[in-house]
Amino acid sequence: MFEPDERLALCASFVREGAAVADIGTDHAYLPVWLVRSGKIPSAVAADLREGPLANAQANIERNGVSDRIKTVLSDGLDNIDENEADDIVIAGMGGELIAGIIGRALWLRDPCKHLILQPMTKADYLRRYLCENGFAVKEERACISLGKSYCVMLCEYDGKNRECSDETAYIGLLKNDGSYEAKRYIHMIREKLMKKIKGFGSDTPEYCTLAGLIEKFGKMSEGAENNDKCRNDI
Ligand SMILES: C[S@@+](CC[C@H](N)C(=O)[O-])C[C@H]1O[C@@H](n2cnc3c(N)ncnc32)[C@H](O)[C@@H]1O
Repeated sequence: MFEPDERLALCASFVREGAAVADIGTDHAYLPVWLVRSGKIPSAVAADLREGPLANAQANIERNGVSDRIKTVLSDGLDNIDENEADDIVIAGMGGELIAGIIGRALWLRDPCKHLILQPMTKADYLRRYLCENGFAVKEERACISLGKSYCVMLCEYDGKNRECSDETAYIGLLKNDGSYEAKRYIHMIREKLMKKIKGFGSDTPEYCTLAGLIEKFGKMSEGAENNDKCRNDI
């Protein structure tokens, strides 16, 4: 049976046993196929915006003999997904802005019973700010390394409380309290991005001061993860 990589395995670990799952932007439907075949969930909806990926999903679902348990749906975000079809909604492998837009359009996600499992590829800071400011609480967040690259996955629930989002929270979320090697590697990656970003600001600007403070802080938090000894296949 197909085994998911660390990134999809981390997403899968946040799915509740027995949940009805919607995988948005499913592409080959690797995640729902694995969840159903492993027995963690009974059924799923695999959705994608485009016909091509959805055809790949359908072929993979049939190859794995789970077409009676996984339905494919052509859908922009959650537009064509009924709220009764999904308890746990996975949105993985897309940019943070796109994920925030998808969440914002589906008003039925504003329900504490629904779990959102989010894995942004870019602009995770934008997504964390969006969640804070729109009543979604990040309950858990973990990092992983897949093929030498760092990723984060968040488990979120709506509680209707809008929160202030500090720059530190926007950039590293709950990983600041994690302490694992994977979290340190993620923080190190963010620090390297900020070191590129700071070059665009004069040293007398407020943006420079803010970024310099974060770079220093993140340097301390990621101590021990600066080199690639544990990840020889880094790219
Ligand atoms: C990089 S793939 C990610 C596949 C899988 N979720 C993963 O994490 O490995 C992104 C997929 O999202 C789909 N996608 C992009 N925008 C979307 C949208 N607004 N609604 C649904 N799917 C979308 C793309 O067609 C593509 O198949």
